[in-house]
Amino acid sequence: MQNKFYEKHIKKCIALAKKGEGNVSPNPLVGAVILDKNGNLAGYGWHKKCGQAHAEINALNMAEANGIDVKGGTAFVSLEPCSHYGKTPPCADKLIEKGIKKVVAGCVDPNPKVAGRGLKKLKDAGIEVVCGVLEDECKKLNEIFIKNQTQKAPFIAVKTAVTLDGKIATRTGNSKWITSEKSRNFVQKLRNRYDAILSGSGTVIADNPSLTCRLKKGVNPVRIIIDSNAITPADANVYNNDGTKVILAVKEDITPDKLKKYSAGVEILKCPLNEKSGKINLVYLVDKLYEKGIMSILIEAGGALNGAFFKEGLVDRLYQFIAPKVLGDNSAQCFIQGFEIPKIDDGISFELDGVKRFGQDVLLTLSRL
Ligand SMILES: NC(=O)c1ccc[n+]([C@@H]2O[C@H](COP(=O)([O-])OP(=O)(O)OC[C@H]3O[C@@H](n4cnc5c(N)ncnc54)[C@H](OP(=O)(O)O)[C@@H]3O)[C@@H](O)[C@H]2O)c1
Repeated sequence: MQNKFYEKHIKKCIALAKKGEGNVSPNPLVGAVILDKNGNLAGYGWHKKCGQAHAEINALNMAEANGIDVKGGTAFVSLEPCSHYGKTPPCADKLIEKGIKKVVAGCVDPNPKVAGRGLKKLKDAGIEVVCGVLEDECKKLNEIFIKNQTQKAPFIAVKTAVTLDGKIATRTGNSKWITSEKSRNFVQKLRNRYDAILSGSGTVIADNPSLTCRLKKGVNPVRIIIDSNAITPADANVYNNDGTKVILAVKEDITPDKLKKYSAGVEILKCPLNEKSGKINLVYLVDKLYEKGIMSILIEAGGALNGAFFKEGLVDRLYQFIAPKVLGDNSAQCFIQGFEIPKIDDGISFELDGVKRFGQDVLLTLSRL
């Protein structure tokens, strides 16, 4: 009974946390609900923007604004309250100061500066602490933050729109549109979730995409284009100077005259080549992007580039939109290319996290095993 009660409120915390999508990076998504000592809702909140108040503080502020005393109350929070001074003071201290009696948390904060210290601080102050309610869901909510904190690397997802036979375009490069409008609208939500979108020269030339987020309150991701020889036209939509950062990854020894055509707003990132493939060294690129504060990347590219990211073991997630169409053409690109795997057991394996239907299309959300 108690478990169901906790789960109900942590579920609400997760839903609140998601309202921060697109605005909190590099911070985690967090939601909080506070009940007064009689179990009545006192306040709720979420972390709205990096650098601004944390979820618990917003929930406490709401209670205060409504004149509700939270002394003896319970705080539910999707992630362990912080214990350190970052851009804001520790939330654990504030909960103690306000006389909260019990704290129910979804999961421990993986940030080494916290990592259980927030919960310890609360316990030391005599607060009853329960942690691990809907733990898997809470961890999934912050999969990007967890990877950043534990591996010091960006979380990387590949998104593809494929036919039933895994093709991403016809042999002539035509791909508009494989999937339905409903699927494509959902892609806008994905774009809002990630710090950056990455594509290659072939897609820029074939499709001239903008790679922006077209949600009403959406945030445009940074756009990263891999184009070692700078062959993409400077007037391509991705280079439109709309205030969104664009990073162009080129080979180290590119001659300056090839870069002259791009506007000053296009950031040039010179990368060494991978000795084997003779293409941009993706491990180097990803490291540099992380150094630049890019915590998550959504790849929307052709099969060779997708395949290269998989080969380097850089991909965490695959969003595979499947449309009920077949091309049946060997010369049409497959969503992942460049492998030679003779044994089926050696194929790239995934865990299926979810299946969603968008009209006639299906979205498989998969984690790399
Ligand atoms: N349905 C979908 O989900 C979807 C999504 C995106 C694109 N598309 C379709 O895909 C087609 C474009 O695909 P594309 O393959 O021509 O272009 P692309 O993937 O957009 O660009 C190719 C880029 O990948 C780089 N690259 C290739 N292999 C690499 C490796 N091993 N390591 C590092 N970089 C590597 C190339 O580098 P260099 O600069 O060194 O040559 C080039 O910049 C279009 O028809 C488009 O419509 C479909």
